[in-house]
Amino acid sequence: MTPVLEAKGLVKRYGRVTAMDGADFDLRAGEVLAVVGDNGAGKSTLIKALSGAVIPDEGTILVDGNEVRFHGPLDARKHGIETVYQDLALAPAQDIATNLFLGREKRRAGFLGGAFRLLDSSGMRTEARRVLDELGIDIKSMTQPVETLSGGQRQAVAVARAAAFGTRVVIMDEPTAALGVAESAKVLELIGRIRDRGLPVVLISHNMPHVFEIADRVHVHRLGRRVAVVSPRTHSMNEVVGLLTGALRMNEDGSIQEVGVTTGLNR
Ligand SMILES: Nc1ncnc2c1ncn2[C@@H]1O[C@H](COP(=O)(O)OP(=O)(O)OP(=O)(O)O)[C@@H](O)[C@H]1O
Ligand SMILES: [Mg+2]
Repeated sequence: MTPVLEAKGLVKRYGRVTAMDGADFDLRAGEVLAVVGDNGAGKSTLIKALSGAVIPDEGTILVDGNEVRFHGPLDARKHGIETVYQDLALAPAQDIATNLFLGREKRRAGFLGGAFRLLDSSGMRTEARRVLDELGIDIKSMTQPVETLSGGQRQAVAVARAAAFGTRVVIMDEPTAALGVAESAKVLELIGRIRDRGLPVVLISHNMPHVFEIADRVHVHRLGRRVAVVSPRTHSMNEVVGLLTGALRMNEDGSIQEVGVTTGLNR
């Protein structure tokens, strides 16, 4: 089966820092893929390369098996790849409908055409309502400014926007990092619903219980590259933590072994 989104040997250097050091990646149709790794492992850099925000120095990116070159986030969007960045990039003073259509406003068909067409506010509100209802997001008014929403509701709006416009992949960088228990549970539910509608989701998270609850596969990133892919059904949280810290190593055959202290005798 051809991966929906794939990367091979990505390299990105910032001066002396190598943020990606031959990173591989693959996302399959219909799955939630979690990407885990220590701080600074290069997860965000990888995700930015896949969403066009970072241009790799080396390596290739493939969409449905075809090589692509992203020169910016718009290129990735054109391929149906939508990203929810950690800072959400919402306009706080604007209402929900406006935020949902930020940068992609609907306009009424006007006789002048082009630049002078009026915003289709009611059309956007109706569409926003439909999207939120479909995803089971419980927000009463589409005209409520985003700054008056709770953290979880804001997260939901950002996720809804990605789900509404993403036609191939939705990528989320730490969507539950700032949320409480109940709000996190709702965002996790939302991720499950997006997957069930047929859109594969890439989820970056430091929260192992969340990862084990929702992910179909877990991509473990360490020192700028993928060191393992495991399934929550066959592997434990301890094993994943061991792999991402380097205490454990995955062999070519998929077996996992402890990385012992190297002594003069067994070196
Ligand atoms: N624009 C940049 N300029 C210089 N160095 C950078 C830049 N972006 C990332 N790096 C460096 O690349 C490495 C990987 O960073 P990245 O943000 O991808 O890690 P991460 O796995 O997302 O970490 P975290 O879990 O803390 O978010 C780090 O050493 C970081 O300092
Ligand atoms: Mg990061």
